[in-house]
Amino acid sequence: MKITFAFDVYGTLLNTHGVVTALEELIGKQAQTFSQTWRDKQLEYSFRRGLMKSYDVFPVCISNALDYSCLLYKTSFTEDERNELLYIYSRLPAFDDVITSLQDLKKTDNHLYAFSNGPRVTVEKLLSTANIKEYFLDIISVDNIKTFKPSPDVYDHFVRASSAEKENAWLVSSNSFDVIGAISAGMKAAWVQRSQEAIFDPWDIEPTITISSLLKLREKIDEYYSSQ
Ligand code: 2OP
Repeated sequence: MKITFAFDVYGTLLNTHGVVTALEELIGKQAQTFSQTWRDKQLEYSFRRGLMKSYDVFPVCISNALDYSCLLYKTSFTEDERNELLYIYSRLPAFDDVITSLQDLKKTDNHLYAFSNGPRVTVEKLLSTANIKEYFLDIISVDNIKTFKPSPDVYDHFVRASSAEKENAWLVSSNSFDVIGAISAGMKAAWVQRSQEAIFDPWDIEPTITISSLLKLREKIDEYYSSQ
């Protein structure tokens, strides 16, 4: 049996807080909270664009959310500083567990895809810069259907585009809204809870499996199938 993996990109493979060091140089101690607001707001903007049927590419949500965060924290950046922050956001670092776990999974005959809100060209650049593009068969982006996670349409799009069997299609994500969206659309999902403080939204949907690191993914999936 082949498993088809849909690896979420922002926040799962790549650390969206990779921009904190640059922010620290600009705004000092507020960098961490600014980065969190920036991330939360870009997701909120994607959800709202999805609901309003007013799609624009994810980098627009990122850019609008940066401007919102500046207004909230009463900070203004020069055009060069703003461009530099957006440039860093297009070259985010991979988490430490990513390369080893992808290398391990690549040895199996499972299919690995990157699956993101980001458009293909943006995700290609992100994965290449983080040196992980080679591990994926392809990038599947919501941009093809012009809406965002967690619309059920995007998970159906993933299943179609990857020619997966839905019951063996697994989303791997640290984003709890993404995990809930995938399971609700009929996929399976591994929630990557990298820190004990990360909270899974208390809805009536649970992740198929929860792992503290991507290094545990293969073992936990094997356990899941042997217990079925
Ligand atoms: C991604 O699709 C949800 O931002 C996350 O990469």
